[in-house]
Amino acid sequence: MARTALVTGGTRGIGAAIATALKAAGYQVAANYGGNDDAAKAFSDETGIRTYKWSVADYDACADGLGRVEADLGPVDVLVNNAGITRDAPFHKMKPEQWREVIDTNLTGVFNMTHPAWPGMRERGFGRIITISSINGQKGQFGQANYAASKAGDLGLTKSLAQEGAGKGITANAICPGYIATDMVMAVPEKVREAIIGQIPVGRLGEPGEIARCVVFLASDEAGFITGSTISANGGQYLA
Ligand code: CAA
Repeated sequence: MARTALVTGGTRGIGAAIATALKAAGYQVAANYGGNDDAAKAFSDETGIRTYKWSVADYDACADGLGRVEADLGPVDVLVNNAGITRDAPFHKMKPEQWREVIDTNLTGVFNMTHPAWPGMRERGFGRIITISSINGQKGQFGQANYAASKAGDLGLTKSLAQEGAGKGITANAICPGYIATDMVMAVPEKVREAIIGQIPVGRLGEPGEIARCVVFLASDEAGFITGSTISANGGQYLA
């Protein structure tokens, strides 16, 4: 029987590419989203992938959402923690709510989704936790103290999950995308974005599909010996 995959933030950007690629690879796929109903409907109409709305920042909503997905599609074997937000500001201007929103979504959101999925994976002796971190969690970034901290936290969480899951057939890995052509990167002021592209040795932004293909590999049985690792896909911008 086909395995089931759940992708958070799965109706736009990198998440949409991941959901689509997993479906093409034979998974039953559920795509969670947080707010943009129009984008979710368009995505679902185009791909046939079911969408589910809840905030990953809300623990109870995550447990409930996971339950809804599992009632529809069966136990979640592959969890892709992709949902993420930015609230960029230089540190001296950063407001406490900008810090909290980003940590709540990008870091606590990974806890909130993984925690309710974990017991079932342990019982079944199989699981894949794949978390989308960021180049900026590895190197830090001017204007992103909140985001960089959340994404660095994701790496520590992933490495701990890898150690705890190893004996139960669960792998936990992270992917650190560099600057990918998505709405999030396009929201960066054009001059700043052009300067960033100038720092990427391959000379271009990445494509969402280039991250999705890493996820499909990490989800596969063939990747069972890979756990606690970080795949950097950043065009050579930062060599961790
Ligand atoms: N390094 C050093 N100085 C920088 C800088 C940098 N990278 N970026 C800006 N500055 C300087 C400017 O030159 C300017 O200096 P002066 O005041 O001396 O002229 C100053 O910082 C700008 O300060 P402001 O108070 O005017 O800043 P602002 O309130 O306008 O905010 C910012 C600026 C929001 C941080 C803006 O620079 C920005 O958006 N930067 C991009 C941050 C970024 O890379 N975000 C990534 C988003 S995509 C993503 O997150 C996906 C992923 O995983 C990669």
